[in-house]
Formats: sequence, C-alpha cells, structure tokens
Amino acid sequence: MTILITGATGLIGTELSQQLVQSGHTIHYLTTSKQKCVNEPHYKGFYWNIACKEIDTACLEGVDVIVHLAGASIAKRWTKKYREEIISSRIDSSNLLFDALSRSNTKIKHFISASGTAIYPESYSTLYSENNVDTASSFLADVVKQWEATADKFSIFGKVTKVRTGVVLSSKGGALQPILKPIAWGFGSYLGSGNQYMSWIHVQDLVNVYYYSIENALEGVVNGVAEEPVTNKKLTQCIANLVKKPLILPAIPAFILKLMLGQMSELILKSEKVTCQKLKNTEFRFTFKTIDKALIEILGKK
Ligand SMILES: NC(=O)c1ccc[n+]([C@@H]2O[C@H](COP(=O)([O-])OP(=O)(O)OC[C@H]3O[C@@H](n4cnc5c(N)ncnc54)[C@H](OP(=O)(O)O)[C@@H]3O)[C@@H](O)[C@H]2O)c1
Repeated sequence: MTILITGATGLIGTELSQQLVQSGHTIHYLTTSKQKCVNEPHYKGFYWNIACKEIDTACLEGVDVIVHLAGASIAKRWTKKYREEIISSRIDSSNLLFDALSRSNTKIKHFISASGTAIYPESYSTLYSENNVDTASSFLADVVKQWEATADKFSIFGKVTKVRTGVVLSSKGGALQPILKPIAWGFGSYLGSGNQYMSWIHVQDLVNVYYYSIENALEGVVNGVAEEPVTNKKLTQCIANLVKKPLILPAIPAFILKLMLGQMSELILKSEKVTCQKLKNTEFRFTFKTIDKALIEILGKK
C-alpha cells in the first residue's frame, strides 16, 4: 500500500514510517520543512505550508491510507499566539488535506488521525473507555474535539480512525525526558498530590496500534494507551528505583506548579484514567503491558 503520513518526521511518525517501509509499504510524507524532503524509492517527502494553504498534491498519487500526525508540540508555553499554532497545525492542516483530496482523483480507503486522551474528564476512579461520551472542558479538550471533527469529515472518502493517545514513553524524546531528568539528578519528587493518574503507552506499542489499525481497518475512536494507567507517585517511584536515586520529599505542591506553568499545569496535574477497551476486544497484543516493563526497556537504552 502507499500511505501518506503528515508529521512523519516526529517521534511517532519516524518509528511508524520505518515499520511500514520494513513491512513493504511505500511512504509519502508531508513536511513543513523543505530540508526534510528526501526522495527514496519507498520513502518520499513532499512540502506543505499550512498558513499559505500550499500543498504539493503529488503526495496524493496512488495513496490508499492517510495517517495525520502533524501537530505543534503542546509542551511549549501556551501564549495566545502559540495556542493558535497548536490548533492550526492540527485542524487547518487536516482541512488543507481534505480540500486537496476533494480536488484529486485519489480514492483513499482509510483516514487515521492522531487525537488525545485530554478529551476525557478528570478522573481518580472511573476508568474511561471509548464508549464514554462525557468530555472535559479545557483548552486541550477543545483542541481534541475540533481535531476529531475535522477527521470525521474524511468519512466521505472511507473509514476514519481517531487514535486518542496518552503520554507516549520513548527513549528518543517526548514527555519522559523532563520527568526523568530531575529524578536522575537526585532532585526528584512527586508532583502535586502524586495521586493523579497518567495514561501512558510505550512508543513501540503505539506504532503497533497504528499498524494494526491500518492492517485491520479498525474504525472510530481507539484509545492509544496501555491497559493500566499509573499514578504520578508510582511512575516517579518506579523511575527513581530504576535510576537508583532517592526521592526528595515533600512533593512539589500543585499551587507552585500552577504558578509556574499556568494552564499548562493540566499536563501534569490532571488525572487521566483511560483504558484501551477497543484494543482489548481485538487480537492486538501489547509488548509493554506494565509501566515497569516499559521503563526497564526505555531506561535500559540510556
Ligand atoms: N507524543 C505524545 O505523548 C502524544 C500524546 C498525545 C497525542 N500526540 C499527538 O500525536 C501526534 C504526533 O506526536 P509526536 O510526539 O510524534 O509529535 P512530534 O514529535 O512533535 O512531531 C510532530 C510533527 O508535526 C510536524 N509539525 C510540528 N509543528 C508543526 C506546525 N506548526 N505545523 C504543521 N506541522 C507541524 C513536524 O513535522 P515536519 O517538521 O516534518 O513538518 C513534527 O515532526 C501529534 O499530533 C501529537 O499531538 C502525541
């Protein structure tokens, strides 16, 4: 198959592209950086400029499946201008792709979009699955709602999948590095009460979720998280044990984190308790089922 990926040069996209090429698929990818365009037999880059509504439509030739991963990082300061970039990089890009596809002769059978678990309400007890319809009220939850609504437009072309992704753990970047560093330097402590849950997934398992969704045409919302969310206390303690460092107590109070990070503090203080019910109902198998197993693999590489 020929698969068009946006955001293919990022943390998830790089590993997904590699796996798909190794399995015999051809990757076309859209990048905002002309320097990142390469032209290899099974891996070809095409330029797009979302603000200027510019897209190299040759990227659509022969494409069967589109995977939309593009999005500005949410880990940078949420100024008004940057919030607009968080939204536009996901929604305007999706709309640009939609318009280009509408004008082309390409017939795709499947559109898969990244999405986020931020859409689920805060929870310390209820385990949210794909069937839950309650949604959170926050900037990120609103981004996810708009992101999924633009993805749903693609249902006129074929199947649509939205991978509501939790915190992706990887040795190559992402959320784990800023959590790990203070602990490894001997300054680690819990954040806030430490009782807030984090719904996580090992990057290799997430790549397998995308791969499985493509191969098995999994439709609708799919939670891209491991079966068992962990509390901040458990995550912090587990990392401290693995890097053999003590934790400095007391924990950093929530109000300090709110003062330092403003609304962005929801990234570390909001309790998200999400499970992968849809995947559990399939033959998909996780390689990293527990946080200990995932962290041993990731930290072992450092
Ligand atoms: N990693 C996580 O923990 C996590 C959790 C939940 C959801 N997700 C979502 O999954 C998707 C992929 O995540 P990731 O961790 O692989 O992200 P990433 O490493 O930050 O890569 C995202 C890619 O998006 C493109 N991009 C960046 N800024 C852009 C902008 N302003 N406009 C258009 N494109 C832009 C870049 O590709 P080019 O430079 O080639 O254009 C970049 O390589 C994102 O949408 C993210 O929100 C990730």
